Amino acid sequence: MKPAEIVLLTGGSSGIGAAAARMLAEAGMTVYAASRSGRAPQHERIIPLVMDVNDQTAVVLAVNRILQEQGRLDAVVCNAGNGIAGAAEDTSIEEIRYQFETCFYGAVRVIDACLPEFRRQGQGRILTVSSVAAFIPIPYQAFYSSAKAALLMYTKALSLEVKPFGIQCCSILPGDTKTGFTGARKYTARAKEGAYAETMARSVAKMEKDEQNGMSPDVIARAILRQLKRRRMRLHVTPRLDYKAIEILSRLLPERLVMWIVSLLYC
Ligand SMILES: NC(=O)c1ccc[n+]([C@@H]2O[C@H](COP(=O)([O-])OP(=O)(O)OC[C@H]3O[C@@H](n4cnc5c(N)ncnc54)[C@H](OP(=O)(O)O)[C@@H]3O)[C@@H](O)[C@H]2O)c1
Repeated sequence: MKPAEIVLLTGGSSGIGAAAARMLAEAGMTVYAASRSGRAPQHERIIPLVMDVNDQTAVVLAVNRILQEQGRLDAVVCNAGNGIAGAAEDTSIEEIRYQFETCFYGAVRVIDACLPEFRRQGQGRILTVSSVAAFIPIPYQAFYSSAKAALLMYTKALSLEVKPFGIQCCSILPGDTKTGFTGARKYTARAKEGAYAETMARSVAKMEKDEQNGMSPDVIARAILRQLKRRRMRLHVTPRLDYKAIEILSRLLPERLVMWIVSLLYC
């Protein structure tokens, strides 16, 4: 498949998405950078879009606009996301829905809007931004972990279905990255009271510190760019060697040992 030229990227106003928009544009791609605020880095090849991934009409209108203006769409990068923290027992069904809404259903909604065109074209690239939390269970962010695991598995299953139409899928799994994600994190209504409150507060504070000391979003943006240029995309990519090593070890080591290490770190 030829490298992508016209790209729809969600969550383009901040962090990983803003870095990716800039890097893709500098590599010569035309990037429709979508977010609720409609902010995006200034570049002649970046076109900002106001699009909430949870708004079906806005998503369909955005994809139609790209097709009208460009006559085609080569790739979609589903990066928009947010996090909610709190003990699993203290999280209401509405709060779980909120977590899945953007991180999972939002991505599915955007991909569904692109698929008919990708099938018509006989090619298309689908990238989802999941997380290392998809393979390491994160306490007090159980539903963020679950939503990212669902997104990863959906991306893999989808790749099997769409391959006959010339469409490729890839999931990018970032580790701690210094972005606006930490500041945008919400807490469940009951997070700060009850049996788990103290441990939860300590644990999430440590995670937030790790995020703010984390890697530059450029590292993840570079991984996205590389996949958009490859003839054949990888099914999933865990950027940076240390996170790749954690992924491999989490598969090789006995599960009980992995859980013990996670609990030492965060419980
Ligand atoms: N930072 C990390 O350590 C880390 C680690 C692993 C995975 N990730 C994943 O990386 C992705 C990007 O996050 P980030 O770290 O770059 O965080 P960020 O700086 O907070 O960026 C999140 C982006 O998503 C957009 N967004 C949120 N809700 C949206 C919605 N309903 N519709 C459209 N856009 C929406 C935000 O823009 P508006 O507010 O303007 O809508 C913003 O552009 C997320 O999926 C996150 O889960 C991050």
